[in-house]
Amino acid sequence: MPAAAPASAPVQKTILRALAGETLATPPIWMMRQAGRYLPEYRATRAQAGDFLSLCYNPELAAEVTLQPIRRYGFDAAILFADILLVPQALGADLWFVTGEGPRLSTISDQSGFDALKPASAIHDTLSPIYETVKILSRELPAETTLIGFAGAPWTVATYMIAGRGTPDQGPAHAMREGAPEAFDALIARITEATIDYLSMQIEAGAEVVKIFDSWAGSLKGDAFRRYALEPAREITAALKARHPGIPVIAFPREAGEGYIGFGRATGADCVAIDNSVSPEWAAEHVQKDGCVQGNLASSHMVTGGQALVDDTQRVVRAFHKGPHIFNLGHGITPDADPENVALMIETVRNFRD
Ligand code: CP3
Repeated sequence: MPAAAPASAPVQKTILRALAGETLATPPIWMMRQAGRYLPEYRATRAQAGDFLSLCYNPELAAEVTLQPIRRYGFDAAILFADILLVPQALGADLWFVTGEGPRLSTISDQSGFDALKPASAIHDTLSPIYETVKILSRELPAETTLIGFAGAPWTVATYMIAGRGTPDQGPAHAMREGAPEAFDALIARITEATIDYLSMQIEAGAEVVKIFDSWAGSLKGDAFRRYALEPAREITAALKARHPGIPVIAFPREAGEGYIGFGRATGADCVAIDNSVSPEWAAEHVQKDGCVQGNLASSHMVTGGQALVDDTQRVVRAFHKGPHIFNLGHGITPDADPENVALMIETVRNFRD
């Protein structure tokens, strides 16, 4: 006779259950950029740290801002507080943030720029405080809260390393991809290798899930999407799962459109995060049929609130409620958002009854 499960068997965390393919009555919820400037407590801690990068590299304070939205809202997951641009910095790029404008980096346009980078094995010299943040969080988070680690996807990270800043159309990266393809491929390979090592260290330090942010995947089309969005995500996922069997991976090829279809199967990712340029009904039909999806409420509702927020939140929950789903925004919450609207979104998700 099979032994009955002990009555005290721990209930697995909701995010991990959804990632394993379970359909839950209420989707677990977290929010991209949940630790951020829309929260007064974040702004206070950032002021204490001095500036954004000092906050990222201060394990005590980075853990504190990671915990703030968990305390305030009881999200089902915490995402490590760091930034995707720390990897370029660890590879030797200069990095600074201009208040009100965003990140600035030294630029790379050819083989000599690539040759000046450090090897992937050097990244831990710079990134070790991040692993310390993960260790603190895995001790301090509530037992039911899942800890998500993350990194930028190679293409998105490369767009910043090449242009030295965010660009509307990723023009400089496309120019290098076409004009200096060998140096470009070497750069993608270097970032891929560094990302595998970086995420692997986050997992060893206590991250229970990792997410790969490909914010600019939408500007890759056709064969370029396959080579530079899909293939690196597949390589990173395969390497992480070989080193850490069972580690769940969330892939976010933002604005991939039709490229979302089959992305989970092709990369081996356990969950595909969806932005709000596609409808939840479309994503349920074409993407969720293969497994867990995350998304995709427009983050503008966190600014505007009201009945439209409630209606669209219910629409997202309803569209995805027949399959595995993690509720989230379609992109990060913005600094002008009202913290009350976040509470309203969470209440709406948790009170939803079909
Ligand atoms: O989601 C979280 O709460 C975890 C922390 C996190 C940050 N950045 C903190 C941050 C994560 C996961 C990121 C990812 C990130 N960083 C991405 C991918 C996701 C996306 O938004 O598309 C990208 C492209 C970056 C690069 C980056 N960092 C930019 C373009 C900017 C400036 C824009 C802005 O919002 O100011 C940042 C800064 C940044 N990263 C902030 C935060 C909280 C704001 C900095 C501040 O406090 O002044």
